[in-house]
Amino acid sequence: MSGPRPRPVDPRGRRIVVTGATSGLGRSVATALAERGAHLALAVRSPERAAPLADDLRRHHPETRVEVVTLDLADLATVRRAAREIVDGLGAVDVLVNNAGLMAIDEQYTAQGVELTMAVNHLGHAALTTELLDALERGVAPRVVTVTSLVHHVGSLDPATLAIPPRHYRRWSAYAASKLANLAFALELERRLRAEGRTTVSLAAHPGAVATHLGHEGTGWSNAMMRRAAPRVLPGPDYGARPILRAALDLDLAGGTLVGPAGLVVGPPRAERPSRAARDPRLGPLLWAATHDLIEGAP
Ligand SMILES: NC(=O)c1ccc[n+]([C@@H]2O[C@H](COP(=O)([O-])OP(=O)(O)OC[C@H]3O[C@@H](n4cnc5c(N)ncnc54)[C@H](OP(=O)(O)O)[C@@H]3O)[C@@H](O)[C@H]2O)c1
Repeated sequence: MSGPRPRPVDPRGRRIVVTGATSGLGRSVATALAERGAHLALAVRSPERAAPLADDLRRHHPETRVEVVTLDLADLATVRRAAREIVDGLGAVDVLVNNAGLMAIDEQYTAQGVELTMAVNHLGHAALTTELLDALERGVAPRVVTVTSLVHHVGSLDPATLAIPPRHYRRWSAYAASKLANLAFALELERRLRAEGRTTVSLAAHPGAVATHLGHEGTGWSNAMMRRAAPRVLPGPDYGARPILRAALDLDLAGGTLVGPAGLVVGPPRAERPSRAARDPRLGPLLWAATHDLIEGAP
């Protein structure tokens, strides 16, 4: 992204879905978009927690429209329901921001046997994206932005074991694997969209490292350390929201771009190279097939 200045699109009236808007980066992204008049669907697991934010945004930014949709990414039936509600409410979708996430949680599995971090961060978002693809195609300059993390660089992922519990659960490895899945999914989605001649593009973004509630749910010693240290040493979520907003709004960015801070953790947003694992041409199709088997097999 060096060279000419970016050409961010005016978000006024753009129909934008943000998952996980109750906290941290999702809240910052939604607030920045509401300030600029976007038409938002806040897709959240707790509508009660989202209600004060939605009221606040409507009160302070009368140009914006804000809807709240209930979505539990760990439960694919609610994902399908949420997608229908989004389509009923917005008609078409211009931007889907796959942002919600869990990190370093205590060991848990869904009814399908998928580790919960992978289920929420990757599987739920893959299902939501699939459900919204036709609505995106009806949108204007439509795009999907999937939020990954720098830790995708240390993630390892075997799609064949997506629904097989590991012998030894490691909370940080589970997170890194889910963030590698997010990025590999975003890149594979882009390849498939191009092959099918669709207009939607798929990008990825990572925020660097910022202090949010991420990791607060876990009860390990590393969670406790992070809860204490992060707010002292890291910038806040508005800072980390910038690469996500850039990926969502800069129409000069091509599909397949990963946007992150120039200095890895902090700095202005710029395009960066995904890890070798994320670019592995064998990973994307295998992950796509395993993911869709699980989505289609879900009750
Ligand atoms: N913070 C960082 O430094 C950092 C770095 C790299 C990547 N990221 C990524 O940024 C994204 C946002 O994280 P954050 O830092 O803003 O964390 P956060 O403050 O903990 O926010 C996470 C959001 O995800 C929602 N969520 C969790 N489980 C859900 C589920 N089952 N269904 C629907 N929504 C669910 C949470 O809802 P509740 O309010 O109901 O809990 C919350 O709104 C994540 O994808 C994370 O991996 C963050």
